[in-house]
Amino acid sequence: MKTYKIGVMGGDGTGPEVTVEAVKVMDAAAAKFGFKVEQTEYDFGGERYMKTGEILPDGAVDELKKQDAILLGAIGHPDVKPGILEKGLLLRMRFEMDQYINLRPVRLFPGVETPIKDKGPKEIDYVVVRENSGDIYTGSGGIMMKDTPHEVATQTAVYTRFQVDRALKYAFEYARKHGKKARGVGEENTVGLVGKTNVLTFVYDLWERAFHEMGKKDYPDIRRDYYHVDATCMWMVKSPEWFDVLVTGNLFGDIITDLAPTPQAGMAIVACGNITPEGFSMFKPFGGSVPKYTAMGVINPLATNCAMQMML
Ligand code: IPM
Ligand code: MN
Repeated sequence: MKTYKIGVMGGDGTGPEVTVEAVKVMDAAAAKFGFKVEQTEYDFGGERYMKTGEILPDGAVDELKKQDAILLGAIGHPDVKPGILEKGLLLRMRFEMDQYINLRPVRLFPGVETPIKDKGPKEIDYVVVRENSGDIYTGSGGIMMKDTPHEVATQTAVYTRFQVDRALKYAFEYARKHGKKARGVGEENTVGLVGKTNVLTFVYDLWERAFHEMGKKDYPDIRRDYYHVDATCMWMVKSPEWFDVLVTGNLFGDIITDLAPTPQAGMAIVACGNITPEGFSMFKPFGGSVPKYTAMGVINPLATNCAMQMML
């Protein structure tokens, strides 16, 4: 019988209570489909940081890499300054484990009410492939002449062809396997590039050229669309049925996927994967730790269950 090693990191606030529920789902799936799970719990997060001053102790990353995958509840503690845990844990894991894809399905489940008029599960059914390793997340930049009237701050969007190509390849492959035609709900499999070629004439020029080159050469069966990111926000509300697989850079991906849960009727059922297609990945519910609701039993565990589903 196949055995999977799963690391469970409940994290902060309401994180641990939702991962407990997802582990029940995992155990039920294991019993039904005939596989075994060896589960290891990790207490990384705000509480531990407050006690010990360390976020991920030495060797933690190597230890985590021994798992097949990680289920993460949520990170964020009210007594820890914003940015510390996010950078020290979430972003560090993404970078050190090269989880270069952030996969965020946008799907309205049947029977769930959406605030978007006249749209249902048929229209709200796409995924966002967010590049997860580059862009302004790489920390390139700085502050000069701080606290003087001449202070200068820069934060540079950095993309290599290699990073762009591997994200595009993932998106095209995903579309071929799980696009609307592949799933029998549409006539074509489509990848839409979300960019800002009218202003970011270097970074998104690279994305656009790489997109069409790869598409023409290796994926002629897949339709290619292009959308500016600002317009994308509008279409996500007005015409989500246009979308199938969207692919975009790290920052735009971060922003548009915060809009995405609303048509899905909230964060309660939205999951995301931080994925290394060739290796170790981390799955989590979309929402944060919402400390004020801790231990009240009011957080819907479905998002974490969906994260578990994505993992399996
Ligand atoms: C997300 C989050 C993170 C991000 C933060 C917490 C660093 O917003 O996973 O979308 O910006 O990537
Ligand atoms: Mn975000």
